[in-house]
Amino acid sequence: MCGIVGFIGTEQAAPILLDGLQRLEYRGYDSAGIAVLSGERELQVKKSKGRLKVLSDIINGGKSVEGTIGIGHTRWATHGEPNDINAHPHLSGNGKIAVVHNGIIENYVELRDFLRSKGYEFRSETDTEVVTQLIAYYYEECGSCLEAVFRVLRRIEGAYALGILCADEPEHFIAARKDAPLLIGYGEGCNFIASDVTAIIKHTRDVSYMEDGEVAVVSKDGVEFYNSLEQPITKEHHTIDWDVSAAEKGGYAHFMLKEIMEQPEAIRKTAFSRIKDNRVFFEDLKIDADYISSINKIYIVACGSSYHVGVVGKYNLERMLRKPVEVCLASEFRYCDPLVDPRSLVIVISQSGETLDTMAALREAKALGAHILSIVNVVGSSIARESDDVLYTWAGPEIAVATTKAYSTQLVLLNMLGLYFGDILGTVSQEEYACIMNELLRLPAKMEQMLENTEDIKHFASNYFNHDSVFFIGRNLDYAMGLEGSLKLKEISYIHSEAYASGELKHGTISLIEDGTLVVALGTYSALFDKAMSNVVEVQARGADVLAVTTESHAAEMRKTVGNVIAVPNTHTIFQPSLGVVPLQLFAYYVALLRGCDIDKPRNLAKSVTVE
Ligand code: M6R
Repeated sequence: MCGIVGFIGTEQAAPILLDGLQRLEYRGYDSAGIAVLSGERELQVKKSKGRLKVLSDIINGGKSVEGTIGIGHTRWATHGEPNDINAHPHLSGNGKIAVVHNGIIENYVELRDFLRSKGYEFRSETDTEVVTQLIAYYYEECGSCLEAVFRVLRRIEGAYALGILCADEPEHFIAARKDAPLLIGYGEGCNFIASDVTAIIKHTRDVSYMEDGEVAVVSKDGVEFYNSLEQPITKEHHTIDWDVSAAEKGGYAHFMLKEIMEQPEAIRKTAFSRIKDNRVFFEDLKIDADYISSINKIYIVACGSSYHVGVVGKYNLERMLRKPVEVCLASEFRYCDPLVDPRSLVIVISQSGETLDTMAALREAKALGAHILSIVNVVGSSIARESDDVLYTWAGPEIAVATTKAYSTQLVLLNMLGLYFGDILGTVSQEEYACIMNELLRLPAKMEQMLENTEDIKHFASNYFNHDSVFFIGRNLDYAMGLEGSLKLKEISYIHSEAYASGELKHGTISLIEDGTLVVALGTYSALFDKAMSNVVEVQARGADVLAVTTESHAAEMRKTVGNVIAVPNTHTIFQPSLGVVPLQLFAYYVALLRGCDIDKPRNLAKSVTVE
């Protein structure tokens, strides 16, 4: 979704802003812009629809915009179509105030009416322009941008991360946050704001995360912070410990391919650092054995691929813990009056840690007294900070919109949590524990073995890339894995695709199978392999062209019926989806490549979904 970057220092701001915005491109956007304050106290606003390159070309890579203080934005349209006028920054009618904004101002219509009644006119259809003009209105009254911002924050409702420049105050800009991520980066003789650390990691690793209701006044030599009561506060500094190269392509054609290839290492980092003497060891977990025993129900709450991790988790956790596990879409959970109580453990899963629906579900569950344990990739993100317990996936920055390594590390971590709880509850025998641990330790190497040879998958992709509809079918863990395989394919290749629990086909969907329909049949779940075979035969009888994914031990059997078979190494049942999903990710990638799609930045999608 939208990205924000701001800079103040002694260097020319515009090239730094463009570079920061380029690093935020992966979040998804449809227009971009910057506002820079010149030495003559003139706010220069440059913005344009489309890719950042268009803007960069207009301003000669930023060189033609003078000034050492500025704010920039990539916009993912919510209010008003993507065009030059609706792009941020927005400039007040008197030219004094420029604003970039992530989030949605819910009462903007009422505020716009108020300003119109005072003679203000609006150029765009955005809620952000209303904030800009309201700051200008109060600024006219009080002559201080900070005071004007405080007054505006008292009036606006909704979510925001704001960067605000005032033409009369060239020594600083102002930042404010509520329900949308924003951080401060500290440089040498310069300072930054960013919605995502990726934008500024090249310049600094020293950051502070803004909390809801906080305001920052950012000057070149320091930053002043205020809390929601408008009182001065000091903020903790955090050090970002990953490298710039982790957010670069490193020779791969796309981030997605790089991130698929990084999965074995990401799993090693996530899992192996939590194993001591062949036991799972969660150093910082606050919940103890008594609490774990008292849990009456586990909820797993997430969106998209993280939700799909939860679907796998439901099968595996129920099996290991013999406790009920419900997996919920975060966007539904918050509105379904959930039956959560203090004996409920709510596991929240999110790569970005900023997904608004997931965040809202977390708050709902917390208010009902549940213990919140989150599995998050981005350190210091909002979800991580509001949870009672956090387990970080150490996947490193994930840039491609389509998640791969975050999904894989979430999956492994959730299984480890199940194993850890199962050990405490006595529902996983020591023999089973040892067997799972043994397979966990071998998982990255098995994945590496699969990633060494992708020729088969490229070949299948070239056979099928021009299909316009695909069904993924499977039972139990294969169904859960199919959900993710199907999402990967549709989001980056734009092929219509659906995942079905195979047993459900005959209740309606099988009517869609006709001559040549591609069915990706998943048969890695050993306990139901025979039933998976029956479903394969069923769809073949109706003309389906089947591509099967199964384990090495079942491949020969599958090949008796299906010509196109992908075999994945055998592992413990709970980890089978971790291996099975890899060819599905690669298949989606190569299909999208052959279709000429914008793989890392698929249309209409954003990496971090910070609106409802
Ligand atoms: O950051 P989150 O894990 O909370 O994001 C949730 C979904 O938006 C995300 O998993 C999305 O479905 C993926 N980008 C799909 O590949």
